[in-house]
Amino acid sequence: MYAAFRSVGSYVPKNVMTNEDLEKIVETSDEWITKRTGIKTRYIADKDESTSDMGVEAAKVALERAGIEPSQLDMIVCATISPDYFCMPSTACMIAKKLGVANIPAFDISAACSGFIYALAMARSFVESKTAKNVLIIGAEKLSAIVDYTDRTTCVLFGDGAGAAIIGATENENEAIIDVNISSDGNYYDYLITPGCGTNRPCSGETLKEHACFMKMKGNETFKVAVKTLTNDVVEILKNNNIESSQIDHFIPHQANYRILNAVAQALKLKDEQLVITVGKYGNTSSASIPMAMNDLYEEGRLKAGDLMLLDAFGGGFTWGSALVPFAPRKTS
Ligand code: ACO
Repeated sequence: MYAAFRSVGSYVPKNVMTNEDLEKIVETSDEWITKRTGIKTRYIADKDESTSDMGVEAAKVALERAGIEPSQLDMIVCATISPDYFCMPSTACMIAKKLGVANIPAFDISAACSGFIYALAMARSFVESKTAKNVLIIGAEKLSAIVDYTDRTTCVLFGDGAGAAIIGATENENEAIIDVNISSDGNYYDYLITPGCGTNRPCSGETLKEHACFMKMKGNETFKVAVKTLTNDVVEILKNNNIESSQIDHFIPHQANYRILNAVAQALKLKDEQLVITVGKYGNTSSASIPMAMNDLYEEGRLKAGDLMLLDAFGGGFTWGSALVPFAPRKTS
């Protein structure tokens, strides 16, 4: 049995936040943000709109495009660093409830911006081992809830949104996900961190005063490791599978920063038309960024059956991952 990537969907909240809006909140400028990151806008969820609300909307699109009902799902895996609830219940359980599904496994994955590729690795394993036939994977983030809007070094980068995909069983080897590679190095744990409100430093007046429940990032140091790791990761997965970079139809990296993506694409000698970039529009939406970018490609009519996608992500932990995925939109049963 093989695992096939059947469909993609996404959800973008309606409120847009421009660089000019941020100029009114912190000492920054459209020029600085554009030059250093390529970001022009990001979308922000409503106060009463949760991560699972966004995840479920993306999931409905992916289900519809795969031609399956929620009742046909065997498993739901949600990657997020901004869950509805701290510890429990999982955002995946909330999504299952909102889809009207029960009595199947549903759980979250915490792998920061690499979360969608980690979820893909899980789904592939469960399908290939014949434990599941249809797995819904989601990357959903309400990062605006964990961003410190007094810290200009992080608040300009992040946005909200969700993306989802259906991974289905197939006996057709040509449709099979070719490879998924995931890894981590916890030695860099404090480069991207929410230092307060976990069990290491429980929520208190002090953590609130220090804004310790918000994301902190050593941006410049992270940048350097990100470029190197994202590049090495792709070189390795292509080599291991005897695939040339020229054979890739769409390189869909995690959308953290235009400069990072461009540096990786240049190192890999990828052509502009192979590189998918949406960071300018959505900012960094962590685990949601890859399926959101893929969804835009699909809706623009540029993602066709049989196209070979190369996914590549890097994020807090540090975690990273890459995947070689043919798009196989045949409807599953
Ligand atoms: N507006 C104006 N000036 C700013 C801003 C801002 N928003 N933010 C920082 N600056 C200033 C700094 O204070 C610094 O000033 P100084 O020289 O007077 O000290 C100067 O700009 C340069 O700061 P750097 O941090 O060196 O800027 P850099 O070019 O590295 O860009 C950025 C910062 C955009 C954060 C970049 O480092 C980056 O993209 N890092 C990687 C992000 C990433 O890949 N994250 C991983 C995934 S995210 C996840 O897992 C959740």
